[in-house]
Amino acid sequence: MLRSLLISLSQNNTMRGIMERSAPGRKLSSRFVAGLTVEDALRVTRDLNAQGFAVTADALGESVRSEAEALAAADIYHRLLDGITTARLNANVSLKLTGVGMDVSPELAERTTGDIVAHAAHEGNFVRIDMEGTPYTEATIALTERLAQQYPGSVGTVLQAYLFRTADDTARLLQQGIRIRLCKGAYKEAGDVAFPAKSDVDANYVKLMQTMLPSGVFCGIATHDPAMVEATERFAAENNIPRSAFEFQMLYGVKRELQRELVRKGYGVRIYLPFGTDWYPYFMRRLAERPANVLFLLRNLVSN
Ligand code: FDA
Repeated sequence: MLRSLLISLSQNNTMRGIMERSAPGRKLSSRFVAGLTVEDALRVTRDLNAQGFAVTADALGESVRSEAEALAAADIYHRLLDGITTARLNANVSLKLTGVGMDVSPELAERTTGDIVAHAAHEGNFVRIDMEGTPYTEATIALTERLAQQYPGSVGTVLQAYLFRTADDTARLLQQGIRIRLCKGAYKEAGDVAFPAKSDVDANYVKLMQTMLPSGVFCGIATHDPAMVEATERFAAENNIPRSAFEFQMLYGVKRELQRELVRKGYGVRIYLPFGTDWYPYFMRRLAERPANVLFLLRNLVSN
């Protein structure tokens, strides 16, 4: 019940306005969000790099409604890419198509994303196009394919283990050498497109991981689930898959001990680092994933 409440609150604009403007709101979010500006993201990236983590930085923002907003969001990515190059950081970027204009028009999103990928390719860097809800799945994959043809190796996307279609999409992208981040999936989806039971999602996650690891295409295993991590470590060891063939990816602030342990073991670990003023929906989805976080954060707020 708390999970559904948190998901509906994540879409509530009044709460969003109050939280984003208030100092306690910003303080609460700092566990999962790097800060408000590109400079904040670069500073935290430098710290994470020093601890042995790679980073993918995400300028928070979803469902922008005007061309001006989409261009402003794209500009943040251009500054971020320049900052990463100048400071020689071990980081790439992640973006959401709705954050760079998809709901204004698919053509606008293609233009803004294409410019960001061209910039990344010029810097020898990489853009990950995050996956959103199913209304966007096909468009996201198709756009990634078009950009990957123009800028091979500089763009990839995300597939979600909860969707029935993902086994086919995995084959489709691997065949073209396009990098995949595998995650379980964070959106509310209907039973005719997605596995409703966690056990089925987990079983599919393992099956997809076992397809991706030996494919020769570098892939991101994005999960905090110790069972998924263990299954990946075991499968890689049993099949002599080198550590250079994949990396683990986890969200900033989530399962930090597991993140450190994997670095100690010598695995590549990339931290997904969100930043920006539009942090509220992202933050609320993280609370919904683990409602115990609400208590943890409230306790922190009171005790500091
Ligand atoms: P699961 O939900 O089973 O959690 C396993 C354990 O991890 C929990 O028991 C808990 O201990 C811990 N945990 C999980 N979430 C936590 C939290 N918020 N706080 C504290 N502990 C937590 N989704 C999507 O639809 N599109 C995308 O593009 C991405 N991108 C992405 C990038 C990266 C790097 C990651 C790690 C995840 C995503 N996701 C995503 C989100 C993903 O789909 C999923 O919702 C979350 O990762 C939670 O699933 P887990 O695999 O962690 O397992």
